[in-house]
Amino acid sequence: MAIRIDGKTVAAQVLDNVATAATLFEKDFGLKPGLAVVLVGEDPASQVYVRNKIARATESGLNSIEHRLAADTDQQTLDQLVADLNADPSVHGILVQLPLPDHLDEDRIIRAIDPAKDVDGFHPVNVGALHIGEESLEPCTPQGCMIMLEQIHGELSGKHAVIVGRSNIVGKPMAAMLLRANCTVTIVHSRTPNAAELARQADIVVAAVGRAEMIDASWIKPGATVIDVGINVVERPSGNGEAQRKLVGDVNYADVEPQAYAITPVPGGVGPMTIACLMKNTLIAARRLQRK
Ligand code: GUN
Repeated sequence: MAIRIDGKTVAAQVLDNVATAATLFEKDFGLKPGLAVVLVGEDPASQVYVRNKIARATESGLNSIEHRLAADTDQQTLDQLVADLNADPSVHGILVQLPLPDHLDEDRIIRAIDPAKDVDGFHPVNVGALHIGEESLEPCTPQGCMIMLEQIHGELSGKHAVIVGRSNIVGKPMAAMLLRANCTVTIVHSRTPNAAELARQADIVVAAVGRAEMIDASWIKPGATVIDVGINVVERPSGNGEAQRKLVGDVNYADVEPQAYAITPVPGGVGPMTIACLMKNTLIAARRLQRK
């Protein structure tokens, strides 16, 4: 039976460290590390994510500042809010929840956030710095995956990692971080003709495609570690014959688990780690900003 990597437990350890560091920060500087979370509109999934982020921030001793804007907010208003948060010395981290409503320019907002406060790690300055090994704020989801992999394996050097998916938020930064840890890294994607065959050569498979249970046992070498980044809502028949909404990953857990060395569940795997790393980034940003 595979080791079930419990993201909630590992995230609690990360958050514990953040809380300790936040107390020291407040003692040293007379204010709490501050995280501003901006939500535009009423997307139900985004509302849940934002609520969780605010709750974790408060529990970790951070000052969380929530800005909720109407769905019809114009670009200029959002630009101005970001400019105000950039200039506010009590704000150390800024997160604008994505996706934004269609009439707003996401790339422009990502670029408008001061890279020193970009706790998502999405600004091109942070993306570039990560890739050339300079100090940056690193995207939260791949950072969370790395922490879990390091806990399971200790040393990652020399391992072959296959990442399924090439998104800017997960696949590409994941490749940069695994490369930095001296892994041999392969990215496979929708145009890769022999993706399963390549994945089957991997010691570590990171699934980040956004397709429910796409990865079955035929993708996984016996004894490999599997990190499932996917969060997909599917409708499944329940006991009484009615359809029930269920959260599943990109990995078919029941099929893959018997032959994996270790595997993350969905929910309760990568998800809690992403939020914990957001708090960690806020603390890192706060320390660097106060140092300046
Ligand atoms: N929407 C879904 N995931 C994320 C994330 O990691 N950051 C932001 N800003 N929006 C998201």
